[in-house]
Amino acid sequence: FEGVTTLELAKRCGQSVATLQNILVNVGEKVGSEFDPLGIDVAELIAMEVGVNVKRLHSYEGSIVLPRAPVVTVMGHVDHGKTSLLDALRQTSVAAKEAGGITQHLGAFVVGMPSGASITFLDTPGHAAFSAMRARGAAVTDIVVLVVAADDGVMPQTIEAMSHAKSADVPIVVAINKCDKPASDPERIKVQLASEGLPLEEMGGDVQVVEVSAVTKKGLDKLEEALLLQAELMDLKARVDGAAQAYVVEARLDRGRGPLVTALVKAGTLVCGQHVAVGAEWGKIRAIRDMAGKLTGKATPAMPVEIEGLKGLPMAGDDITVVDSEERTRMLSAGRKKKLEQDRLRKMDEERLRKIDEEK
Ligand code: GTP
Ligand code: MG
Repeated sequence: FEGVTTLELAKRCGQSVATLQNILVNVGEKVGSEFDPLGIDVAELIAMEVGVNVKRLHSYEGSIVLPRAPVVTVMGHVDHGKTSLLDALRQTSVAAKEAGGITQHLGAFVVGMPSGASITFLDTPGHAAFSAMRARGAAVTDIVVLVVAADDGVMPQTIEAMSHAKSADVPIVVAINKCDKPASDPERIKVQLASEGLPLEEMGGDVQVVEVSAVTKKGLDKLEEALLLQAELMDLKARVDGAAQAYVVEARLDRGRGPLVTALVKAGTLVCGQHVAVGAEWGKIRAIRDMAGKLTGKATPAMPVEIEGLKGLPMAGDDITVVDSEERTRMLSAGRKKKLEQDRLRKMDEERLRKIDEEK
């Protein structure tokens, strides 16, 4: 609700104008006429104060929209070779070539193709991270690579990953891994997958299947091709100019540098020096590094970067929002913290009531 007036916001939140103006006073904002437009950050803050969930909708008319790289997550059953596959793909990645090896662990990396196209892999391991991020509303990934070991077959977590992808409406590309093993039987895996309801391409569906080996690296180029083909069908694009919308892939604390966040920009450009509200945390971006550890100063869509300068540690899936001033970022994060705490307490209450009900 960019440019919403106090009057309009009051109506939408089901509150009186006076209530909202009181909140404005309490957070130290100027109180103008009810017909004056509020800033987007102030509007979010007020909505949070009255317990209304908000979503920021921007209009970027006339902005520059360009094709972007697909963001891919690898999932599958325990020991089927997810880490090995990512490691093998990582070796062909841009950073490995640029920096003579990966200098840091970023939680994401980019593989560049000879054609100039590229693929961004998230290596947040496991379903837990995927679910957590999805629960937080982050559209984490465009495509899921479902890894199935050719010598083992479809297992419980294979099916779980399939249903995660389905409910997130994310297309699957199957990688039948360990095809170097004598005991491997890719045809059997395909039959299993089909009987689980996955519409494989060679059976008339639209799910591509690639046979690979993370050990011998056979088929990796085919997998990358399949991913690019899938991405092409999806016609992935992003706005590249204007304020960034981004999310946290991973966050960790570095003793010397403080909180470090692996971020992925969804739209716009994130620029060093900007004030950001990140979930319930805030800060001013002090440095942006690409995955080779090089200072870049800015980040564009689907490019994983590491940002430095937050005051606290955000959570995977948190939104990164660019805010006008430090005052505002403080205000927003305080408001969001309060809201998180309220939500937590309410959940605990509900849980308690549910238990009492059950005991009855
Ligand atoms: P979790 O993270 O524990 O779920 O396992 P994962 O899916 O990441 O599997 P990981 O990459 O750790 O591989 C499990 C085992 O399978 C390791 O011993 C790997 O060396 C082996 N492995 C992985 N890929 C291949 C492959 O293509 N061929 C063969 N022969 N072995 C493989
Ligand atoms: Mg692993």
